[in-house]
Amino acid sequence: MAFPGSSSVSRADGPPNEPAAGAGRDGVKAGLDLPHPDDGSLARLVAGRVRRHGKVTSPPRPPNFAALFADEFFSLQRVPAFAGAGEETQAAIRAACAQGVLDEAYFIEKSGLAYCARMLLLAEDTQTRQAFALMGADEAAHLAWITAYVPEARRTDAAHPFLKLVAELIEQAPSPVLVYLLQLILEGWGLAHYRDLAAAAREPALAHVFKTILKDEGMHVRLGAALHDPRKFSDAERTLTRDALAQFLTLVRCGPLSVAGALAQATGAELVSLHEALAGEAEAARKLGLLRQLMRAEGMDWAGAEMQALGLFAPMTPAQAAALLR
Ligand SMILES: [Fe+2]
Ligand SMILES: [Fe+2]
Repeated sequence: MAFPGSSSVSRADGPPNEPAAGAGRDGVKAGLDLPHPDDGSLARLVAGRVRRHGKVTSPPRPPNFAALFADEFFSLQRVPAFAGAGEETQAAIRAACAQGVLDEAYFIEKSGLAYCARMLLLAEDTQTRQAFALMGADEAAHLAWITAYVPEARRTDAAHPFLKLVAELIEQAPSPVLVYLLQLILEGWGLAHYRDLAAAAREPALAHVFKTILKDEGMHVRLGAALHDPRKFSDAERTLTRDALAQFLTLVRCGPLSVAGALAQATGAELVSLHEALAGEAEAARKLGLLRQLMRAEGMDWAGAEMQALGLFAPMTPAQAAALLR
């Protein structure tokens, strides 16, 4: 599973969300809150199998989060409050930003496992089942590689509204909606996001993890393209697609709020000026433009047109975005 880099809203920014309780339509539970310990016979079995899936090196434990990414990835070098902060404060901000994107990657890969399980059960022919079983094995390996960068205590707390939306779709949405939203749009965006992460990672082992994941994600998008059939959408499925896209775009329109939030917390600087210094509006516009392109799958022009009519491709102003964090 890949993802949209929606770390624009921090874990605590949105409305309080509990991981979805109970099972979805076909008994599938997204399970983002499932425990995930490092030790035990099953953990060893998974680790052994994952080693055959691709060669990646484990990071030093615990990882030095402050040193994992270039400042430019989060636009920290643009922010006067960051430049004026002491070394310790700068390290705390870098670590918070790094943990934000790694936690997001962890939960999206964890969601990918449940997605493949549900799609495998819904498949109408044997090749589709094989394809989703193979894709599920990829997601299991991706999850294992990212897990090395997510402390155990952070592996059950998927509070972000974006993760809640993805989990609800996996549990409830019919197959045509899932293929379009998760496999064409989100996996497509994930390709771009993992490419950016690979370029921004300063630790060679982490850069290698992202590059190795990237090799699989292309197949996941191609599988989505092969399965996508716009004629399969019922009226109810169009409505569900429209609602989910609107929620998703709203989360992207607010720009890099998690970075602004981390900066505000550590330096006491004001949110509107931080959002401006981060060029948050331009960053949101760039991501919205990419999403708009991805929405243009065969027979889906109506989706982009409706989002355009609702004004959802326009980024929020710094004042509008900052108001979400207050
Ligand atoms: Fe994927
Ligand atoms: Fe993945």
